[in-house]
Amino acid sequence: MPQGELEGCAPPHLLIISGVVIYKITINTTLEERMAVLPEAAERAAWLRDRIRYHNYRYHVLDAPVISDAEYDALMQELRALESQYPELITPDSPTQRVGGAAQERFRKVRHSLPMLSLGNAFNEQDLRAWRDRILRLLGGDEQLAYVVEPKIDGLAISLTYVDGLLTVGATRGDGEIGEDVTANIRTIKSIPLRIPLSGDEQPPARIEVRGEIYLPIAAFEELNERQAAAGERLFANPRNAAAGSLRQLDPTITASRPLRFFAYAIGLVEGKTLRTHWESLGYLQQLGFPVNPDSRRIEDFEEVLAYCQEWMTKRDQLPYEADGVVIKVDSLARQAELGVVGREPRWAIAYKFPAREKTTRLLDVKVNVGRTGKLIPNAVLEPVEIGGVIVKQATLHNFDYVKSRDIRIGDRVIVKRAGDVIPYVVGPVVDIRDGNEQPWVAPTHCPACGEPVEQFDDEVDVYCVNNACPAQLVRTLTHWAAVMDIVGLGEKQAILFVERGMVRSIADLYRLTPESFFGMEGYAEKRIGNLLSAIEASKDRPLARLIAALGIKGVGSVAAEELARNFRSVDELMAASKEQLEAIEGIGPTTAESIVDFFAVPANRQLIADLKELGVRTERKPEESGTQTSDSDALKGLIFVVTGTLPGMTREEAEQLITSCGGKLTGSVSKKTSYLLAGDDPGTTKINKARDLGVPIIGIEDLQRMLQQHSG
Ligand code: IVH
Repeated sequence: MPQGELEGCAPPHLLIISGVVIYKITINTTLEERMAVLPEAAERAAWLRDRIRYHNYRYHVLDAPVISDAEYDALMQELRALESQYPELITPDSPTQRVGGAAQERFRKVRHSLPMLSLGNAFNEQDLRAWRDRILRLLGGDEQLAYVVEPKIDGLAISLTYVDGLLTVGATRGDGEIGEDVTANIRTIKSIPLRIPLSGDEQPPARIEVRGEIYLPIAAFEELNERQAAAGERLFANPRNAAAGSLRQLDPTITASRPLRFFAYAIGLVEGKTLRTHWESLGYLQQLGFPVNPDSRRIEDFEEVLAYCQEWMTKRDQLPYEADGVVIKVDSLARQAELGVVGREPRWAIAYKFPAREKTTRLLDVKVNVGRTGKLIPNAVLEPVEIGGVIVKQATLHNFDYVKSRDIRIGDRVIVKRAGDVIPYVVGPVVDIRDGNEQPWVAPTHCPACGEPVEQFDDEVDVYCVNNACPAQLVRTLTHWAAVMDIVGLGEKQAILFVERGMVRSIADLYRLTPESFFGMEGYAEKRIGNLLSAIEASKDRPLARLIAALGIKGVGSVAAEELARNFRSVDELMAASKEQLEAIEGIGPTTAESIVDFFAVPANRQLIADLKELGVRTERKPEESGTQTSDSDALKGLIFVVTGTLPGMTREEAEQLITSCGGKLTGSVSKKTSYLLAGDDPGTTKINKARDLGVPIIGIEDLQRMLQQHSG
C-alpha cells in the first residue's frame, strides 16, 4: 500500500505526521489489539521491504538511485520499528536482516553442485589466436563462432544458491569441489539480492546457482589500508587479498563494514529455465536483479575480440576496480558442452592476462629528495625489478609517516606497484618472509642536502627543509624558473652543476653569468655558452604572467599567475597588495592570497625582485599584454585538465603553464567535464579515486608530451 493511501485513515496504532509513520507505544496494548492490527502491519512491512529492495537495487546494482539517502533511511527505520514491534513479521530476506547472527567459530564446508573451474591463460595475441584455432579445429569446421568478452576482475569467485528465490547458501570456490559456507558474510553485500527476482510479479526459478566475483573497489582498498596502518594492523597487499580477507571474517559485522561489491558472470545450474547462450544467461541474471558488468560484450568477429583485449589493457587504469585481464567465452552453451573441460580448465573460455603491475622486490635503501618547496620525499632504492615492461629501480615512499605507519624496513621484500604512468610506489612490506635482518629506517632530523634541521607543520604529514639557501631547493627553484621562463639548455643536470660549482646562488645570479663564468668547464665550448647566455638574455622579456608563475609561490600556478597579471601591472604592484585585495580576485582563495603575502614578506624574495629589475628582467606588463594570453599552440584546445602530485622532471607549475600555453584549461577538482587527470608522484587520492569513478583518463607527463608531439607532428 503506498504511503499516501495510509495517510488520513491511519489505524489506531499508527500516527502519521507529514508522511512519517510513528508507531504508538504499545506497552498497554492487549493481545487482541495487537492481533487486530497485525494484518495491516504485515501488509505495510511487505510494502516497505519491496520498496527498500527496489531502492537498494537502484543504488547498489544500477548505481542510479531515485531517492535520497535520507528517504531510504526513513524507509529502513520504519521497517525496523515495525519489525521490533511485531517480530513475527521478520522474514529472512528482510533488508533489516543483512547483518545478523553471532560470530562463528569456523566455516562449514560445502560441496559445489558443479565444480568451480579456473581458466587457462593467454598473454598475447598469438596465444589468443592459437586458442581460437584450436577450438575451431575441435568443433570440426570453420563455423562463425560468437564470443562474450568480460573484464576479469581480480577478486574472488563465489557461488550463490537460491531456492525458490531465497538466498540459501553463499560459498567460496575453495579447491573447486569443496568451498566454505560464508552465507552470513555474503548477506552483508548490498549488491547481492537476498531474494530474486527483483519484480515480485515474476516467478523465481525453483533453484539457481549464480557465480560471480566479489571484489573491493580500489578506493575502498586504499582507505582500508590507511585505516589498517593507522591502527597498527597488517596491510593487505592488493584489493583481491583485502576482499578475500574481508569475506573470510568469522564475524559478519566486520565484513559488513567493508564495502565489498559483486558482479555475476555465470549460471552454474538453473532449474525451470532454458538458456541457449552465455549472453542470454547474463541477460537473465540481470533480469533477476544481479549486477552484471556493463562492459561485457557479445562479439562475432574474432578480430574485434582482440581489439577489445587491447583496448582494455590501456583502459584498466580508469576502472574503479582492479582488473587483471579479459575473459573470453564461447557464447553458445551447446558449443561449450561440446568443447568440454580439460583438468580444471574449460576449453571454451580463456583469460587474456594483462602484464602484472605489482611485483615484490628488495628494499635496498631509502634516499631522501628535497623538493623546490623544501618538501622531503623518501624514495625507495630497489633491487631492479621489471614491472609492465619497465625496469623499476626506485619508487616513492610518499612521506616519512607512510614509512613509519607501514613499518617498512630496509632489507624488506616490498610490494611495488606501477599503475599506468603514475610514479611507482611501495605498497608495503611482505612481513611474513622477514628473516630478522631487516632494519627500521630512521627518518632524518636534518636536511640531507644542507644539514639544517627539518620542520613539520601541525596539519601536514610532510616534513620540510625551511632553509631558503638549501642547495637542493635552489636546484629545483632554478629548474622551475628555467622551464617557465623558457630558458633552453638549463635543466636539472646543469642547475646541479652550476650550484655545486658555486656559480649560481640565486635566480638573479643566472643573469650575472658571463662567458668567463664557464671557464674550464668540461663540455662548455664557446657555442654552447653563447646559446645558453642568449637564452637567459631572451628570458628577460617574458610576459608578466610567466614571471609571476616562475617565482614559484606556493599555490600560484599558471592559471593564478595569469589572473594576477590581469589585475596588477607589475610585480611591484603585486608585492604591495594586501591579502584582502588578493582574495577579491577571481580564482585566488584565502590560502593562495596568504601565501603570496607571505612570499613577498620574506626580505630575500623582495631583494630578488629588486635584483631582477636591476639586471634588466622586465617585471611590468607591456600594454599589449592586458588580458594576458600566452597561448603558443592550440594542441590542447577544448580540453580540461586537473593536475595532481609532483611530476617527474617538471614542476607542477611548469606543467600547468604548458597546458595553458597550448590552449588547455585547468580546474582544481575532477568532475564529469574533466578531460584528463595529469597525475605525478604522491597524487591526491581523492582526485585519483574521483577520476576512476567517473572514468576520467589518468595520464602521466609522458602522455601529455606525447599528445603535444603528435599534434605538432
Ligand atoms: S569465468 C569456467 N568470468 O577468474 C570459467 N571468471 O581463473 C570460470 N574471474 O576463479 C570463471 N572475472 O574468480 C569468469 N568474468 C569472469 C571473471 C572470472 C574474474 C575469475 C574467477 C575465477 C578466475 C579464473
